[in-house]
Amino acid sequence: MKNNPICTLFNIEKPIIQAGMIWCSGWRLASAVSNAGGLGLIGSGSMYPDVLREHIQKCKAATNKPFGVNVPLLYPNIEDHIKIIIEEGVKIVFTSAGNPKTWTSHLKQHGITVVHVVSAVKFALKCQEAGVDAIVAEGFEAGGHNGREETTTMVLIPQVTEAVNIPVIAAGGISNGKQMAAAFALGAGGVQIGSRFVTTPESSAHPNFKESVIKAKEGDTQLTLKQLTPVRLIKNKFFNKVNEAEKKGASTEDLQKLLGRARAKKGMFEGDLDEGELEIGQVSGMINEIKPAKAIVEEIFSEFRTVMINQSSFIE
Ligand SMILES: Cc1cc2nc3c(=O)[nH]c(=O)nc-3n(C[C@H](O)[C@H](O)[C@H](O)COP(=O)(O)O)c2cc1C
Repeated sequence: MKNNPICTLFNIEKPIIQAGMIWCSGWRLASAVSNAGGLGLIGSGSMYPDVLREHIQKCKAATNKPFGVNVPLLYPNIEDHIKIIIEEGVKIVFTSAGNPKTWTSHLKQHGITVVHVVSAVKFALKCQEAGVDAIVAEGFEAGGHNGREETTTMVLIPQVTEAVNIPVIAAGGISNGKQMAAAFALGAGGVQIGSRFVTTPESSAHPNFKESVIKAKEGDTQLTLKQLTPVRLIKNKFFNKVNEAEKKGASTEDLQKLLGRARAKKGMFEGDLDEGELEIGQVSGMINEIKPAKAIVEEIFSEFRTVMINQSSFIE
């Protein structure tokens, strides 16, 4: 890529970022994506501090290319995580689910490139004010926790790129080169992809969860738990229980009780397809196979290139 702001910012070859994902993106996946010329992210949100340190050390041993860590700011051990990231010399951090002002300047003082994930223009402006180096703008289609505004990627990206003057990475509903090219047409300089990387051999998701993503068809996911923290899940038994409870007017406390603890681990890591939370994006309807991370990065980039070249041939 020539003069691409995301490649320049991270010193990578292809502006494809593998999203940080709880229970799915450890050192194996992150290093495989980085070795393929993209940017791999370790998802620290499901890791105890000592586990995070181990993953960072293993990732450093598995690649000499840049990689980063995703840090959801709501995480209870956040201070320990930040300390480990700095001690281990990680140079790229993607923060999410919190206020970008809290940690950005501290991380930047340690020479770390900081990116924050947002779901709305007003939050993108806050990120810019906080001094982040780039923004991930994530649309309503995305897997995992999501914005309350329900703005789709198609509508969000052009508004965010218009509003800020730092690089924007598009996320939500991107799994192939056509979708990547669309994100570029909307003004993004790179893409962050989550769901597509769940079904790789390198992902630490349980095989049952990978299988359910492959089986998922259009309409099989929905944003739920909007009273707590909105999250897009595969519609399973647990999802139906939440739905029923909400129809009966469940309070926030009722929902919190129903959710309980460790639902995401139960579903995505332990493979309980009935009672666990199965976080995945709408794009799961287009994911039909288990494929190595390297092959995915190469396939997406090559399709992206072809689409960009073909589209430009329409212009005289
Ligand atoms: C299984 C799963 C777990 C996720 N966990 C996190 C997380 O820990 N932190 C975060 O910032 N985003 C998380 N996300 C959102 C992704 O980082 C990413 O922005 C999103 O997956 C992009 O949309 P896509 O799923 O359509 O590719 C998760 C997504 C999935 C599918």
